[in-house]
Amino acid sequence: MEDLLYKTESHKQYEYMAQMKEWVKLQSEKMGRPLTCHITTFGCQMNAKDSEKLLGILEEMGYVETEDENADFVLFNTCTVRENANLKVYGHLGHLKKIKQKNPHMLIGLCGCMMQEKLVVQKIQESYKFVDLIFGTHNIFKLAELMKQCVDSRSMIVDIWQDTDQIVEDLPSERKFRFKCGVNIMYGCNNFCSYCIVPYVRGRERSRNPKDIVREIENLVADGVIEVMLLGQNVNSYGKNLEEPMTFAQLLREIEKIEGLERIRFMTPHPKDLSDDLIEVLATSEKVCNHVHLPVQSGSSEILRKMNRHYTKEQYLALVEKIRAKVPNVSFTTDIIVGFPGETEEDFLETVDVVKKVNYDSCYTFIYSKRTGTPAATMDNQVPEDVIKDRFRRLLKVVGESSKKNINRYVGQTMEVLVEGVNDHDDSMVTGRLTNNVLVHFPGGEELIGKIVPVVLKEAKGFYYIGERAQEA
Ligand code: 5AD
Ligand code: SF4
Repeated sequence: MEDLLYKTESHKQYEYMAQMKEWVKLQSEKMGRPLTCHITTFGCQMNAKDSEKLLGILEEMGYVETEDENADFVLFNTCTVRENANLKVYGHLGHLKKIKQKNPHMLIGLCGCMMQEKLVVQKIQESYKFVDLIFGTHNIFKLAELMKQCVDSRSMIVDIWQDTDQIVEDLPSERKFRFKCGVNIMYGCNNFCSYCIVPYVRGRERSRNPKDIVREIENLVADGVIEVMLLGQNVNSYGKNLEEPMTFAQLLREIEKIEGLERIRFMTPHPKDLSDDLIEVLATSEKVCNHVHLPVQSGSSEILRKMNRHYTKEQYLALVEKIRAKVPNVSFTTDIIVGFPGETEEDFLETVDVVKKVNYDSCYTFIYSKRTGTPAATMDNQVPEDVIKDRFRRLLKVVGESSKKNINRYVGQTMEVLVEGVNDHDDSMVTGRLTNNVLVHFPGGEELIGKIVPVVLKEAKGFYYIGERAQEA
């Protein structure tokens, strides 16, 4: 019944934020200083985007963000795509326990993909009793409501949903960068690649309404954003389940019309269903960047079949050729898994062959990690660790050579760079990206941040360039 009082879920949540704001105000009056919060984000760009939303809610409640984990509220937004990601979270939790022993009033929250696993939550409830709040991937919009329960009850609050079809719009969000921003276009994944835990922890595919996406981007642009990264586990599936179905290519065309928006990126398209329409948009759009992140995972058709990827090596290579023929200067990056169960030396060499043939600008290479509950976890012929390590080392070498060779092709040319920040190592330089996503460092000051400037690419260094500002026409 209570829900009927609110027009939408977001109204209800703003009410909780207002209630928490009172609580935060009282606490900070008692302490004589503002309450601080810190979010530690593990994993991918989806999580990074979720953290921006979570921080938006916390700031609305009156918390002030702080750089380190010694804060009044610390939230870990976790990842579980590989075992390593989980281990990192437990390591950090040990560190937090010590901080909390010194500051007992501190609140600790855990959310994200790892919390969607029953065994993880059980373990935390049993062995990490100092944690105050646990929620999952489907209900991050409830942060204020859950924190209210937490401070009222003073006991551990656990709220995990198995799946959802709900998309809550119009909540606050706090951007990390002034000039660029990730934008969710869909949530979840229906692909069930046999190694991957994502469909189990992020649920079924749900697309956002195009009007909501366009409105969000228009507001971002009005607020100074010139580049957006459209996010979805497989953007090619965008729009299939909408009341009025729409393709990803059509969505891009709509977004392209937004005045003031300069660059559009997206990730990730699946090679099994990348449409000709999308290639057409890549070829003709002024704003869609000429970079395709196209995860191959393996070069062996047999392994790809076992991975449930729905394409062969030949089909993948043909797709790359088709895109290259239509989109001049397109750049490819990829994800590769080494050591999938049953991977033989011949299979591995097929992967090396793909890397050599495609000439990726860069590759994200991963050692296969067994995820309980996925079909691959119970497959025969798990590959021994020393064999995987040897293949991984050999692959890195080929990948390095390939990106080096590839990057040399633009040396001497003048290209547009979106400046992202002052260089980490030399503050007389700035760092930015080409439309193909490759990094460029060149002499300049912070007044250039967020601007697109022409830069002569003087020298290629492995996977980035050193440049010099060109005279603007
Ligand atoms: N082991 C190793 N790598 C994995 N990925 C997903 N699941 C696993 C796993 N179990 C990689 C894939 C995917 C990227 C985001 O993470 O390459 O594209
Ligand atoms: Fe995982 Fe495959 Fe879905 Fe990507 S497409 S999230 S690899 S199941």
